[in-house]
Amino acid sequence: MKKHFSIYSIILILFMTSFSCQSSGDQEKKESSIDARVDSLLALMTLEEKVGQTVMYTSTWELTGPAPANGNNAYRAQQIRNGRVGGMLNVIGAKGTRSAQQLAVENSRLGIPLIFGYDVIHGYKTMFPIPLGQAASWNAEVARIGSEISAIEAASSGLHWTFAPMVDICRDGRFGRIMESAGEDPFLTSVMAKAWVNGYQGDDLSDQYSIAACAKHFAGYGFVEAGRDYNTVDISPNTLYNTVLPPFKAASDAGVATFMNAFNDLNGVPATGNAHIQRDILKGEWGFEGFVVSDWGSIGELLNHGFAEDSAHAAQLAMRAGSDMDMESEVYEYHLQKAIEEGKINEKLLDDAVRRILKVKFQLGLFDDPYKYCNEVLEKKNLLTVENLEASRDAARKSTVLLKNEKNLLPLSKDVNSIAVIGELAGSKDVPLGNWRAQANKNSAVSLYEGIKNALGDRTSVEFAAGYQLIEGNRTIFDTLNFAEDDGSGFKEAIRIAKRSEVVIMAIGEDCFQSGEGRSQADITLKGRQLELLEKIAQVNSNIIVVLMNGRPLAIPEVHQIAPAILESWHAGSEAGNAIADVIFGEYNPSGKLPVSFPYVTGQEPLHYDRKSTGRMVPENDQYDMVFWSHYEDAPNEALYPFGFGLSYTSFEFNNLEVIASENPGKITVSVGLKNTGDLEGTETIQVYIRDIAASITQPIKKLVDFKQIRLLSGQEDRISFTLDSSDFGFYNPQYQYIVEDGKFEIMVGNHSNNLISQTVEVKF
Ligand code: NOJ
Repeated sequence: MKKHFSIYSIILILFMTSFSCQSSGDQEKKESSIDARVDSLLALMTLEEKVGQTVMYTSTWELTGPAPANGNNAYRAQQIRNGRVGGMLNVIGAKGTRSAQQLAVENSRLGIPLIFGYDVIHGYKTMFPIPLGQAASWNAEVARIGSEISAIEAASSGLHWTFAPMVDICRDGRFGRIMESAGEDPFLTSVMAKAWVNGYQGDDLSDQYSIAACAKHFAGYGFVEAGRDYNTVDISPNTLYNTVLPPFKAASDAGVATFMNAFNDLNGVPATGNAHIQRDILKGEWGFEGFVVSDWGSIGELLNHGFAEDSAHAAQLAMRAGSDMDMESEVYEYHLQKAIEEGKINEKLLDDAVRRILKVKFQLGLFDDPYKYCNEVLEKKNLLTVENLEASRDAARKSTVLLKNEKNLLPLSKDVNSIAVIGELAGSKDVPLGNWRAQANKNSAVSLYEGIKNALGDRTSVEFAAGYQLIEGNRTIFDTLNFAEDDGSGFKEAIRIAKRSEVVIMAIGEDCFQSGEGRSQADITLKGRQLELLEKIAQVNSNIIVVLMNGRPLAIPEVHQIAPAILESWHAGSEAGNAIADVIFGEYNPSGKLPVSFPYVTGQEPLHYDRKSTGRMVPENDQYDMVFWSHYEDAPNEALYPFGFGLSYTSFEFNNLEVIASENPGKITVSVGLKNTGDLEGTETIQVYIRDIAASITQPIKKLVDFKQIRLLSGQEDRISFTLDSSDFGFYNPQYQYIVEDGKFEIMVGNHSNNLISQTVEVKF
């Protein structure tokens, strides 16, 4: 193809390349050389070109939001050639990104490269467990390795930037996007956030296989009223500062390159137009130097919120509030220039936004080689490799949570004579891929049925029957989900094979498109006739191992009653079936713990362990012989499966908790004995919670502050220590100041939020 480098771009690229050659590996020097390069480029840019950098288009290959109003391809291509576009999303593949990049680099006056973003949420081609599942591993390495591999695959396919991790605290199982989160707890989510950012970005964004990460959705999106997507968020400063913001701060501290703001209204000021969180806190207090992209159309939606009078007003509000790039609203594109020319917005704000965007492009090395990621050879070589699949399998096993194991039904001996594998989900090669599946090949996962067969020799008879019907048609990320009309015609065969088999392995739960964006549910029990079939199967065979596949906590007390063994596998990714079989047959002793509470009934939602005490406290056993205390008359207060809960094939015992306020003021050493009292080697997660007994702002009854995973042989004992300091004991006040108050604290240690031994100490900071 003929190259059309302008004189400016040639001078610029030469200048920049020589500058980059001079800069050594020293991070500070590199940063200041990038700042200088950004400034010199900015000085050459016209107002139109600067506005252009704030504009982001989607391709029409894949739509992850409502179709653009002016999405005419020819017009948009011309805008790119004219240097009026800064980034694109949903442009896929080395070839596709190269041709889009050529439009910008070879035609525009300054040849500024586009940045290509995509929702690489839990894998690009090789799917890892959904983020909620990864969080269930309570293992930062699972998150880091998964996102590192996702980055390698994405970068090999032309992408520079993922819209992940989502670090919204989600406590309401009705909210479909809980699957993308690390669940209900700020501390666990912060640990995961850091690991995800490190995995995607590596040590240096300019590395061939590093991509920029994006902490989203800033802020409060997990608290949408009644769990309904895009709904209003009205939370106190206490919740905002102490629960919602900490994982975002952790991502910022970990050096995340970008933030995405959120669709929701936040306490009366929509997040996208919210200067307090974006300018005062994020860019001010936290010193975040990357850029903020809006969510899809969220700048335009400032009108719908009743916050902006028209699009021109929306442009002003969003830019003033610190939204640097406009994803698909077409508001900056059409209104920003005029607002600046009319003096309604200070051009310095635009300069700051553009500086931030260009900086990330420089950090990614796009000015040194705008095509460096568009490499079809690497794209062939690096996707779906044996190593990537092996890592996905390992992540899936570590994300599996054993919820029940009566009569030690699990692990199952491979000497078993006959197994009936039941459930449409057990036969599905698609459901385990989950929602937000990027470029996963449809039907490419190892199904549970295949996994069971792969694990066993010919000696064991393995029969399959779908039994119930749930899945309807060709589902996509975009379309409304329909459920199949189940006439029960599959029941007979399922019951028949269950009856003649030694053991039943039955998969139930959710289709993968039941959770994700736009997938909120008012009822989080099992859909269709799954439960009815389970009841019938239990009548003919009591050796039932239930495997749950789902993207949210489910209200399943009946399943808990019926099945002697229950494994939570989430939507476990490409190697789901093999990984679940590893756990079923004891090749892997389960170590996962729930990152979210499972309720008895939907009406308990939002349910979370770190609730306040109330003035009418809940007694230990949930029982009083009068009604005047905070409870439901028709359901327990507690979770069916609490936060942090997960069994092992071995058992552990905690003993001798010691809490010592060390010489060093404000430091508390916590240590506890742990013994593997069972017959197998296994991993336990020791969780440390605290309670501030009396504080100037009332505190949760318990709050996770640290955890460690320890592997012990059968009979082995160890003493595990934690050091807590003042930062673990404080909280933000309504002025967003972090304060620590002296006084009594209860320190609790155990293996889930409802199984803790405790000691109370007086602490002076
Ligand atoms: C809207 C979603 O809220 C966001 O998470 C996603 O990254 C964008 N669409 C782009 O697909």
